[in-house]
Amino acid sequence: MLGCRRIRPQHTDESISRVEHKRILLIIGGGIAAYKCLELIRRLRERGVGVRVVMTTAAQQFITPLSVSALTNERVFTELFDLDDESEIGHVRLSRDADVILVAPATADLIAKMANGLANDLASSVLLASDKPPLIAPAMNPRMWLKPATQRNVRQLYADGARFVGPETGEMAERDEAGPGRLAEVPALIEAIEEMTASDRSARTHSSTGPLHNRHVVVTSGPTHEPIDPVRYIANRSSGKQGHAIAAAALAAGARVTLICGPVNLPDPAGVETIKVETAAEMLFAAERALPADIAVFCAAVADWRVAQQGTQKIKKQKGEPAPALELVPNPDILRTIAKQKKGRPELVIGFAAETEKVIEHASAKLKRKGCDWIVANDVSAETGIMGGNRNSVHLIREDGHESWPELSKDEVAVALVKEMAREFAVAEEKTQINKTMRAKTHKI
Ligand code: C5P
Repeated sequence: MLGCRRIRPQHTDESISRVEHKRILLIIGGGIAAYKCLELIRRLRERGVGVRVVMTTAAQQFITPLSVSALTNERVFTELFDLDDESEIGHVRLSRDADVILVAPATADLIAKMANGLANDLASSVLLASDKPPLIAPAMNPRMWLKPATQRNVRQLYADGARFVGPETGEMAERDEAGPGRLAEVPALIEAIEEMTASDRSARTHSSTGPLHNRHVVVTSGPTHEPIDPVRYIANRSSGKQGHAIAAAALAAGARVTLICGPVNLPDPAGVETIKVETAAEMLFAAERALPADIAVFCAAVADWRVAQQGTQKIKKQKGEPAPALELVPNPDILRTIAKQKKGRPELVIGFAAETEKVIEHASAKLKRKGCDWIVANDVSAETGIMGGNRNSVHLIREDGHESWPELSKDEVAVALVKEMAREFAVAEEKTQINKTMRAKTHKI
């Protein structure tokens, strides 16, 4: 286990100072979520950030360059073949002058152009001419996001060093449409910009930098399905959103990430090695095979029991017969198995506790029982809407106490948790260095 240090998660206050005086080039794509950019620009300007904007032709169907220009206090760039622009500023300088290039909303079309190096308008030309990887905030219909072509493009962009924020999962502007594809909220966009500037990622790629660079993080996510017969199974309401967000945040922090996930309706996070399983037994097998790891986060809602004798054929209703009784047997406890491992235990093992009452008390007992280092506990009683929802209110429990975090989106919880992990490793490394120096000094004496 790593040395413990109690630190509060840091959110927007710190980001204010981190982004001050930075220059953002915001490329606004043509999507209904473009209106959120107006709020984003206001919030960035309040923080002392210079914002320059390029709008695609389609973006101008949703918001006007006039309103954007009023908020940025600068002219808005829209045309590639604008001679004035070429002589005064040019598309190469537009991108080189910026500390961070944010593409929001990044439509499927813009993503495809970026992934394939197209440059047939000002936005795509700026992106291609840029010397730094962009921060991309996708927003589109869930079907478009989940299409293999889009996912392929996203993977390519990750591999090229781009960073992503969102998309979030939820209701779409179109009636009766829901799923992954919502533009990340303004605080999440600002936090991502802050991350980008803080680690000066612009000159480097995601895989070779970041506080978790050189670390391997294993995350379990989603529910498990325990078959009753070939067509029926026992399941639970876990969506996998929190686990997937943690995997993405760890990746963004430079880690190599293995995500082991049960059946979920979420896209595989690009850049993450995703192993899909169905049952608890398969999840344990995959988790053991994924080791060695520096950090293991057990976020999955693993079914506690499975059916002792699975039917090999569909169990038939028999007229006049009573309903069949299902005999259940306990599933292996994956978290406990890995946390209690004598050899090859990850340095930091984190469990989750979904409780409906006495959250801290029950979660603290769980920390001991399972042998893990931290527990992230949340109240999942029906009225909280946490199970399946986009927000989370958690308590981080360590051996020496606990801290309660404010209500955050699941993406924000993931980023805050990854920051805590990075700090834990930084403190441990610092201690090792001090010990080494002390030993060297003692030796000299
Ligand atoms: O015992 P309980 O299900 O409340 O414990 C929750 C924690 O244990 C979570 O981190 C979950 O991922 C993990 N767990 C597990 N294998 C199980 C049951 C829970 O890894 N069979």
